Amino acid sequence: MSTPKHWLITGASRGLGRALAEAALQRGDRVLAISRDATALQHLQATEPQACQSLVLDITDGAALEAQLPPALDAFGGLDILVNNAGVGMLASVEDSSPQLTRANFEVNFFAPMRVIQLLLPRLRAQRQGQILTISAAAAIGNYPGFGVYGAAKAALESLHESLRQEVMSLGIGVSLIQPGPLRTDFIANLTQGDIGEAYQGNAGRFARYLQSVQGKQTGSPQRAAQLLVELAHEGRLPFRLPLGAYAVNKARERAATALRDWEPLMDAARGVDSPP
Ligand SMILES: NC(=O)c1ccc[n+]([C@@H]2O[C@H](COP(=O)([O-])OP(=O)(O)OC[C@H]3O[C@@H](n4cnc5c(N)ncnc54)[C@H](OP(=O)(O)O)[C@@H]3O)[C@@H](O)[C@H]2O)c1
Repeated sequence: MSTPKHWLITGASRGLGRALAEAALQRGDRVLAISRDATALQHLQATEPQACQSLVLDITDGAALEAQLPPALDAFGGLDILVNNAGVGMLASVEDSSPQLTRANFEVNFFAPMRVIQLLLPRLRAQRQGQILTISAAAAIGNYPGFGVYGAAKAALESLHESLRQEVMSLGIGVSLIQPGPLRTDFIANLTQGDIGEAYQGNAGRFARYLQSVQGKQTGSPQRAAQLLVELAHEGRLPFRLPLGAYAVNKARERAATALRDWEPLMDAARGVDSPP
């Protein structure tokens, strides 16, 4: 059994974040749990009062993050794994996505995890060890009509992590992106509902109706996902990208297999735009 680890988990009130917190606590680790829901955090903390601490925080509130996160971590006494899990979906056709809802979605899914990472990197660099584990989505493997903004926020987060990984690799810090397929959580119930105009009812609207029809019947188990991630973290086997659940695994395989298909016939023409040597 490896040494107990210190986890910081955002969005630990329910769903995957809650399952991760419970799995880590059951393994004998310590958890600093963050969400806006004080009652849910109290219940979580009550299960392991010695090992679990909580911080009631809206991660999109940059000033609160900067004021409250560092002292909370000092009191917690360590940090081995940062889990950027908090996230919110958004349903709207691209044409109908309002700037307000678009920005709000990027605040939760992109700017907040980026700010958390920036705040914690000096600590991780100083100790020359640590793991950043960020929850992306299968929508970042390939996106759907109606999920443009949500998928874009996750894809932007993935691109940020591609740079981050190369920047911190030599500093002893690991970076991982998890790409879950459908997990049985409150994610669909909590989606931000934007507009889907008449022109897009056949694709984005259809996707929205499909999501509503599978609410509560998603195949992925957040508990099983959490068990796997906690085990991989302890074994030091977290890869850079990991699709989770059969749906996401198949989607990633299909994407890799067909990546060249669209542009391979134009490869010579595309190469030909370079100036002659
Ligand atoms: N479920 C799926 O099918 C699925 C698929 C792919 C990816 N994901 C990703 O998995 C992650 C976890 O989602 P879930 O499925 O567990 O959904 P969930 O049940 O809706 O949980 C979302 C969590 O995010 C937290 N959160 C949202 N906005 C926040 C904010 N401003 N400040 C602090 N916490 C905030 C919520 O906490 P409070 O509301 O209590 O603050 C909650 O704990 C998300 O990043 C999501 O994009 C989920």
